[in-house]
Amino acid sequence: EKGGYDFFMLKEIAEQPAALADTLLGHLDGGRIVLDEQRLTDDDLRDVDKVFVVACGTAYNAGLLAKYAIEHWTRLPVEVELASEFRYRDPVLDRSTLVVAISQSGETADTLEAVRHAKGQKARVLAICNTNGAQIPRESDAVLYTHAGPEIGVASTKCFLAQIVAAYLVGLALAQARGTKYTDEVAREFAAMEAMSDAVTEVLGTMEPVGELARSLAHHDTILFIGRHVGYPVALEGALKLKELAYIHAEGFAAGELKHGPIALIEDGLPVIIVMPSADGRAILHSKMVSNIREIQARGARTIVICEEDDLSARSVADHFIPIPKVPTLLQPLVSTVPLQVFAATVAQERGYDVDKPRNLAKSVTVE
Ligand code: F6R
Repeated sequence: EKGGYDFFMLKEIAEQPAALADTLLGHLDGGRIVLDEQRLTDDDLRDVDKVFVVACGTAYNAGLLAKYAIEHWTRLPVEVELASEFRYRDPVLDRSTLVVAISQSGETADTLEAVRHAKGQKARVLAICNTNGAQIPRESDAVLYTHAGPEIGVASTKCFLAQIVAAYLVGLALAQARGTKYTDEVAREFAAMEAMSDAVTEVLGTMEPVGELARSLAHHDTILFIGRHVGYPVALEGALKLKELAYIHAEGFAAGELKHGPIALIEDGLPVIIVMPSADGRAILHSKMVSNIREIQARGARTIVICEEDDLSARSVADHFIPIPKVPTLLQPLVSTVPLQVFAATVAQERGYDVDKPRNLAKSVTVE
């Protein structure tokens, strides 16, 4: 049942190319993005003037990424909030607000209550869910299913990647409804997402040295992660995976925040994993990141840099580097997350922990 892998999580990491392809399948039809269940009219979608994304844990990190894409494509303001905070605040919502609830299980108590809170304020709710007929999609006005297949490992992997593309599809559907993107542009973005299955397969073929690196760092008590722009949620996800599986103190930071506090944590030999933006993307982000790496290296950090193969300036400041393929900026998280999943799983294995069943955690959190 584990298909030759020691743990379901490892099998699920390997299934990510299929999870992406299956989640996209059939969603571009006659030049238009289609959802799975839509109990909303096109006018309802066109009238949306604000988006909230609500979720917990890994699904929240997918939500953070959705903000970059949806704002860029639709020019709608997007707020991303932990469901447990959203439901107890008094968020400003009305019938033109779209609340996107992301949940693998579709049963997470806080996310479900966030959905109910939103509906109580007359907001429209769209669910992104991996479980057919679960409570959250049942109570939502529209649904987009992630077709990642059952996820058995407690740590979410393939559902994270599928949630990212599903949330991007919602962005394209809104862009199309609002007319901020023409049909051919939507088709181009869709094709770029489809091409990511192969890019993820390529990364999966290069994980051997990541495993070795993970084994060599498994004794550390603290590992930090930094990123910028879409690399920032990836840093948060890398840290979440490591703490939940390996019980190591792991934190993700926005690289631009280093000087505002976290740089005080840097000491001799501390491993810091850096998610580099694309060298051809926004040059300014790239060069700022290189200076951030220099700053922490000067203070003794051991720098582990995830970057494009030919990114020589990033490699020049890397004590270790993990190559990823060159892909469009918004899609980079689909490839840069993979080594972080493998890293966390390998550190946990090296420490002798059950990768599929980390202590104190449940797959589906149906109580607060
Ligand atoms: C982390 C993880 C959790 C879940 C969170 C939300 O690896 O799996 O953080 O992402 O509990 O669960 P769902 O998506 O079922 O609402």
